[in-house]
Amino acid sequence: MTASPKEAIAERLAEARRRTLELIEPLSDEQLNRVYSPILSPLVWDLGHIANFEELWLVRTIGGREPLRGDLGRYYDAIENPRRTRGELPILRSGEVQPYLEAVRERSLEVLDEVELDDTEDPLLRDGFVYELLLAHEHQHTETMLQLLQMVESYEPLRTDPRHAREATGEGPEMVLVEAGSYEVGAPAAGFAYDNERPAQEVELDAFWIDRTPVANRDYLAFVEETGAEPPLYWERDGGGGWLRTAMAERVPLDPAHPVVHVSWHGAAAFARWAGKRLPSEQEWEAACAGASTARANLDQLGFGTAPAGAYADAPAGCGAVQMLGDVWEWTASDFLAYPGFAAFPYPEYSEVFFGDTYKVLRGGAWATRRDVIRPSFRNWDLPERRQLFAGIRCARDA
Ligand SMILES: [Fe+2]
Repeated sequence: MTASPKEAIAERLAEARRRTLELIEPLSDEQLNRVYSPILSPLVWDLGHIANFEELWLVRTIGGREPLRGDLGRYYDAIENPRRTRGELPILRSGEVQPYLEAVRERSLEVLDEVELDDTEDPLLRDGFVYELLLAHEHQHTETMLQLLQMVESYEPLRTDPRHAREATGEGPEMVLVEAGSYEVGAPAAGFAYDNERPAQEVELDAFWIDRTPVANRDYLAFVEETGAEPPLYWERDGGGGWLRTAMAERVPLDPAHPVVHVSWHGAAAFARWAGKRLPSEQEWEAACAGASTARANLDQLGFGTAPAGAYADAPAGCGAVQMLGDVWEWTASDFLAYPGFAAFPYPEYSEVFFGDTYKVLRGGAWATRRDVIRPSFRNWDLPERRQLFAGIRCARDA
């Protein structure tokens, strides 16, 4: 028997929640409540925010119901409450937040039972948009939570998936050519995508070269040693001329063959210049990504690390580049701007308030990104100095 669309939505919501809870299960109450970094929320804020966002959209907006906890929602508004302030807010703490997550979920399933998903004129409900939004939101928050988990000492994941570590690397040229031509970038009108990916547009690109693989630690290390550039987050000298990687309280020798991760945009751009290359524009990146597969990619979080640079050589993008999706986000040269014809939906605070020259675009997702989140048109953005993201580098060069 196949599940009805509503049953399928309920199961996907449950699966997203299982993952969220699985990630925090090994943590103590103190670790959940603790502020580890001014640029990351305490995990307990993320949990309350996930529940509150679900209540706002699935219970209040489409169900027309009153909030369970009065005006609690204002403390979970991501725009009103910058990350550095979130530890001080009168938010629900561990012990209170789990019952709130459950109570909201119970009500959203009641509303799901009542709503009309077919033949609806409501753009929030058409094709289950609001449910896709909720799923993407929770999935994306688990990646943010994983950024913080990198700082938690003695964090031991409940479950891991080591398959990516066994992926063999293939041989190939350093760079591959993307032919000049007209390329469609952005998300098609049908199916779930964020407002900032639309409308799809035709872009004319000159021919360019792009690195076949993400930049490896060995290359970034040579750049750091030669120029004195800031090392990536979680790199530490071992005292004997070597380097250690220290995330999640592991202190292991840096693996030269793996993609560099936790670099800033400034670091990425400086590396590219040092290498005689440049960062690709996001349009170039998306053109190069055409034909890449999310199935053969290191995604979905449980790998807790990268595959070696050059892995998944059996599943390259059309241009021959590998690992365009998964492993590490890739900084692009592009500012986060609206596409021509952009229309904010369903709320300006998702993308529109971030447009401008403040943020740089990243593409492709990382090992910490859920598989359902990523697609070639997906645009992530952050400040150019930030290193907490699972962000690496792939360089380009004019042909
Ligand atoms: Fe959020």
